[in-house]
Amino acid sequence: MGQSGITRVGVVGIGLMGSGIAQVAATAGFHTVVIDVNDEIVSRGMTRIEESLQRLVESYEKSGGQRGITQEQKATALQNLQSGTELSLLQDRDIIIEAIVENFEAKAKLNEEISALGYDRLFVSNTSSISITRLAAHYRYPDRFMGMHFMNPVPIQPGCELIRGFLTSDETAERITHFARELGKVPIQAEDKAGFGINRMFVPFLNEAVRVVEEGIMSVEDADKTTLCLGHKMGPLTTLDYVGLDTALAVAEVLEQEFGPFYKPAPLLKRLVDSGHLGVKNGKGFYLYEKGKPPVVNPAVARYRMR
Ligand SMILES: NC(=O)c1ccc[n+]([C@@H]2O[C@H](COP(=O)([O-])OP(=O)(O)OC[C@H]3O[C@@H](n4cnc5c(N)ncnc54)[C@H](O)[C@@H]3O)[C@@H](O)[C@H]2O)c1
Repeated sequence: MGQSGITRVGVVGIGLMGSGIAQVAATAGFHTVVIDVNDEIVSRGMTRIEESLQRLVESYEKSGGQRGITQEQKATALQNLQSGTELSLLQDRDIIIEAIVENFEAKAKLNEEISALGYDRLFVSNTSSISITRLAAHYRYPDRFMGMHFMNPVPIQPGCELIRGFLTSDETAERITHFARELGKVPIQAEDKAGFGINRMFVPFLNEAVRVVEEGIMSVEDADKTTLCLGHKMGPLTTLDYVGLDTALAVAEVLEQEFGPFYKPAPLLKRLVDSGHLGVKNGKGFYLYEKGKPPVVNPAVARYRMR
């Protein structure tokens, strides 16, 4: 056992982030239980984890052991993983990591249900923008609650933003910092204001990229070619598709509520979410994604110009 004192991890939500978090925890040697709302979603999430582990094994073999994980490490990670749909599976955990939809009411309700279970140990939220202090008020032990903001894709990105709520104890903050390191992540400390540090800086950049397209200043492809100028690994519109357009919109709205109209989400981002475009997770966003084919610009986006 490491300095965090944690051996058993629980993850709620097996979407984009929850599946990555569960994978990383299991690979780091923690016994990990991950739950979601129904069997179909759980099975899809477990397939995503297996595929991601397999890609890391292939990367290990291709790089001669410089990157990735061994076949044995993959097998051990899968042995460490348990999945299901019942909240009660989380009762014996040392820490619960919440990675459900970016919606205050849904997260507050879950925190109350977890309190009602009698769970009384560490509890963190992977929220991108919602106040940790507000979420902590819905857990019976706000001193044991904190923000642990993993980056997407979780198995690849080394940074993890840690956010202390108003009532988070020193002990909790220290144990979570140790835990982040035990997961192989670099802890980055931030204060509890909307968007914390990373999304406060990054979401306005992504939102402005949408405005550049909707005002007709650049095409989708050209806006993404700014990687060639800025040194980023991925263009802003492709990044939005990977983040999830619903998640990005929710974060921009939280920033707007706290800091005002500078953070107002671009109308095109809203139009896309309103018409069911969620990005890579459902195959349609700024680009259309089909397995085995390169992404193509979504014609509805290419046509849209703000008058
Ligand atoms: N997408 C990103 O790049 C990113 C990055 C950092 C943090 N986050 C944050 O991580 C969280 C999850 O985002 P995501 O992109 O994985 O979303 P997602 O939509 O891919 O997954 C959310 C999952 O939560 C499940 N869920 C919803 N309510 C639930 C409940 N009550 N109990 C159990 N499961 C429930 C859904 O079925 C879904 O599988 C959000 O708070 C988001 O802001 C996202």
